[in-house]
Amino acid sequence: MNKLGSIIILFVLCMTTAKAEDGSRLWLRSEMPTDITLSIDSTMPDDDGYRISGKTITARTQMGLLYGKYALLRGEQGESHPYFKYRILNHWDNLDGTIERGYAGESIFWSLTPAPSPRERGDHINKYAEACASVGINGTVLNNVNASPKMLTPIYINKVKEIADILRPWGIRVYLSVNFGSPKALGEVKTANPLNPQVRKWWKKKTREIYKLIPDFGGFLVKANSEGQPGPFDYGRTHADGANMLADALKPYGGIVMWRSFVYGAKHQGEDRVKQAVSEFAELDGQFRDNVILQSKNGPLDFQPREPYAPIFDQMKKTPQMAELQITQEYLGQSKHLVYLAPMWEEFFGYVEPSRLVGIAGVANIGLDTNWCGHHFSQANWYAFGRLAWDPTLTSEQIAKEWLSQTFGNEKGKMKDEEISTVITSLLLRSREACVNYMMPLGLHHIFKFDHHMGPEPDGFKADYPIEWCPVYYHRANKDSIGVDRSSTGTNATGQYREPYRSLYDNIKTCPEEYLLWFHRVPWTYRMESGLTLWDEIQRHYNRGVAEVDDFAYIWQQTKPCIDEQRWQEVDECLRFQQKDARLWRDTCLKYFGSFLK
Ligand code: GCU
Repeated sequence: MNKLGSIIILFVLCMTTAKAEDGSRLWLRSEMPTDITLSIDSTMPDDDGYRISGKTITARTQMGLLYGKYALLRGEQGESHPYFKYRILNHWDNLDGTIERGYAGESIFWSLTPAPSPRERGDHINKYAEACASVGINGTVLNNVNASPKMLTPIYINKVKEIADILRPWGIRVYLSVNFGSPKALGEVKTANPLNPQVRKWWKKKTREIYKLIPDFGGFLVKANSEGQPGPFDYGRTHADGANMLADALKPYGGIVMWRSFVYGAKHQGEDRVKQAVSEFAELDGQFRDNVILQSKNGPLDFQPREPYAPIFDQMKKTPQMAELQITQEYLGQSKHLVYLAPMWEEFFGYVEPSRLVGIAGVANIGLDTNWCGHHFSQANWYAFGRLAWDPTLTSEQIAKEWLSQTFGNEKGKMKDEEISTVITSLLLRSREACVNYMMPLGLHHIFKFDHHMGPEPDGFKADYPIEWCPVYYHRANKDSIGVDRSSTGTNATGQYREPYRSLYDNIKTCPEEYLLWFHRVPWTYRMESGLTLWDEIQRHYNRGVAEVDDFAYIWQQTKPCIDEQRWQEVDECLRFQQKDARLWRDTCLKYFGSFLK
């Protein structure tokens, strides 16, 4: 049906105004049926899966029964098992309550004194846990990867215990980000050298202290020797030395180390930034303990609206790996833009077989805002992360429909009519590509405003900062051409990929156009598949991005009769902002890049 047809039907069907909603209930608005039958079957596979038949839920574990209840609520029937063992949220929450790259208020876990203790915030944390469990998330890292050493002091470990006690009934284990320099920073040992016996002893003691209070503690997440964080290089040691020391401390308790590969500017300074993770880690493959997992961002740079997949997933053959996805929209409009991220993650799984991974981590977008995520539609990204961590074969469309029926559906938990679902689902599914188009089409990347990453700054250059933090490094536009030659004639980043991608990306003729300026340096006059020149094609993409957002705003206007007032208004305001911001992106980028063609 065409757009007008759908919209007319919308008007006819949505004559009642739904009751007041503020988004605080997330997707948990439907009443759990009372006549469910639960049964345990110890012959089922040894995980937290479930089988649903009518209103009977069967599982091997209590958690399986719980997951089954929420599955029943969203209309599932049949058997389902979690794909990944580790389905973990990463909160970049600081101990003072601020959140790095958080756009939905302060931390739900931490705050400055006089601080409500986690226990006082129990209801809130409990609700958070229910939401996580309802989609199968089974772990959470409570603090920022740029970790304060204070996290490991008794006062905070006690708070972690309080949080763990609230999360446990929901099947959620707690993990902590740790600062590699902690023993030294806390003044308890003179060094943090991972081969020093005092340091090793310190970590063992600290780990014992944690497990004494939290017997099911999950383990540590570590950002080392990256963006100024301390790490084993400071002592001439390798990432394997560092990770293995922590792994040894955790091993007796069954804990894991999630060691991040997001490193640059340390050992391989000066090398193309997108190559540095492979340069540092490939040679260490096989040297990690079996309870170390290498955690890598989906792309080789940094959570851009579109990146090719990170080739480290091809290179580590013996080391268990996790993918880190960013739910918070640092580079995608920061809870001001409506951008549904599942299509991006679906694209990633199209390149990186889920079977290569043991887990998925998602950088959370959750804060104390009434609606938890800033933008009502950003809740869909939290939901989608959980659903994909359970089953990475789900499509973005299935997930969007599920989420919509539970959030914008009527009280019975079903959308009032198919049409609303169809119209809003299509808006959700188009939103990520629209964002790519109005921000950075055709493989452009990292042309954001310095530091906060909201808004365009393609001409950004700051002499005082590392060049890798300057947008000009990522496009290198001049009067003849634009883009970075990462092919075998350039930095040879393409050489880090497995076939067929290595050859595909290496050749300008076969490189998918969405990655063109990522992998190639291209003359402005280059003929694109459409027959247009590169410059005309760039303009076309920017204009298309703006037109898409205008269309989203138009569609939203038509849904007004069907949606409760507060949420409708708040989304509407955000869409108006997004329309302006999309124009700002287009106009700034076209003006700047166009200046090279004069
Ligand atoms: C990005 C982000 C930082 C974050 C870092 C990381 O660079 O802007 O805020 O600390 O990623 O993932 O470690």
